Amino acid sequence: MAHVMTRRTKFVLDEDHIPRAWYNIAADLPVPPSPYLHPATLEPIGPADLAPLFPMALILQEVSQDREIEIPEPVREAYTLYRPSPLYRAHRLEKALDTPAHIYYKYEGVSPAGSHKPNTAVAQAYYNKQEGVRRLTTETGAGQWGSALSFAGSLFDLETKVFMVRISYEQKPYRRSFIESFGATVVPSPSSETNAGRAVLAEDPDSTGSLGIAISEAIEEAAGREDTKYSLGSVLNHVLLHQTVIGQEAIAQMEMAGDMPDVVIGCAGGGSNFSGIAFPFLRDRLQGRSSTRFLAVEPESCPSLTQGEYRYDFGDTAGTTPLLKMHTLGNDFRPAPIHAGGLRYHGMAPLVSHLYELGFIDAKAYPQNACFEAAVQFARTEGLIAAPESSHAIRAAIDEALEAKEAGEERVILFNLSGHGHFDMAAYDDYLSGKLA
Ligand SMILES: Cc1ncc(COP(=O)(O)O)c(C=O)c1O
Repeated sequence: MAHVMTRRTKFVLDEDHIPRAWYNIAADLPVPPSPYLHPATLEPIGPADLAPLFPMALILQEVSQDREIEIPEPVREAYTLYRPSPLYRAHRLEKALDTPAHIYYKYEGVSPAGSHKPNTAVAQAYYNKQEGVRRLTTETGAGQWGSALSFAGSLFDLETKVFMVRISYEQKPYRRSFIESFGATVVPSPSSETNAGRAVLAEDPDSTGSLGIAISEAIEEAAGREDTKYSLGSVLNHVLLHQTVIGQEAIAQMEMAGDMPDVVIGCAGGGSNFSGIAFPFLRDRLQGRSSTRFLAVEPESCPSLTQGEYRYDFGDTAGTTPLLKMHTLGNDFRPAPIHAGGLRYHGMAPLVSHLYELGFIDAKAYPQNACFEAAVQFARTEGLIAAPESSHAIRAAIDEALEAKEAGEERVILFNLSGHGHFDMAAYDDYLSGKLA
């Protein structure tokens, strides 16, 4: 007898449905965001100021007002290695919570690096290669971004050097091996290889590092070498732009599911995976066609959106970047060494900060224990071990589902499961043995 499927768990798109263009939210903003400023003159910077660090194609994307930016064919081809990523309906989690809410998650952990980060790494490596760059430097917190860029560097034959925040370097030795397997070099940051690193070590020889310090080191090396450019894994407009493949696919998949989200949730470190899922849905909200809510979730120990000031600040610790208008805890803020290394950044993407100020985005902060509790419940119902960063989104999604239950509402919740936690088992071990701070 034929078996009739009564419910669907996975919504899967064919490779033809990989988006052909990135969505640039700048074209739809009711008020333009504040320009980046030169720290010496306090005047808006021009393309020439960024040219030592980035290829011109990315600099132009940074300031583009075009609503759609075509994805080059070699980038789409690389995306076929893992895109479109699946969208799941969390039936088992819904049942465990006994909620009338519909919970969906977009799973970016299927990429080679295990997170959303290759969506921009591949694009950045491609444009650098096109413009004759030979080497890339970058920072990595959790190791996900370093993994993504080393993978992308190997696809486009670029040498890659990764300054890895020391706490992650020590907590996650296999992330380092992963990065090295793609041919990249990994250096724990702060290091003695740069002025920025040496300055931090002189003050605090036991520094566990931070994303801000690692960024300073990577920038210093790129600025000092003709053959080298710098690559950033979050925060900047072009990075957020590349991540919009997530939300565009999710819109098509939610249509397949016959639902549209009442709330879209993402964890937020620098803001890229949150923007990636949120911006394509925000387009309708900005144009007055939807009332979907957007929720960025951050750790209590690094609460840039919920507690930070909205002002101009440097993107790195040493103060070498242009000044960015953003929510910031101060570029000298040293976050506690929580396991969600990718959320330990003092600032928030200027575009996310701007939309938060305009009232289009809400934010929430959670302590790490509450997030691991949610991640374990998720693992035991949905079968996926989430990255500690992504566990923040799970916590918020579960809380939304419990609120919906309280209110007796069939709320539709969509969150981005930005990565898997297969290299984060030490963190789960700490949680399960009650040792988590
Ligand atoms: C799995 C995962 N999620 C989220 C983040 C946070 O970055 P962003 O806010 O740019 O998405 C990271 C950063 O390393 C990450 O590895």
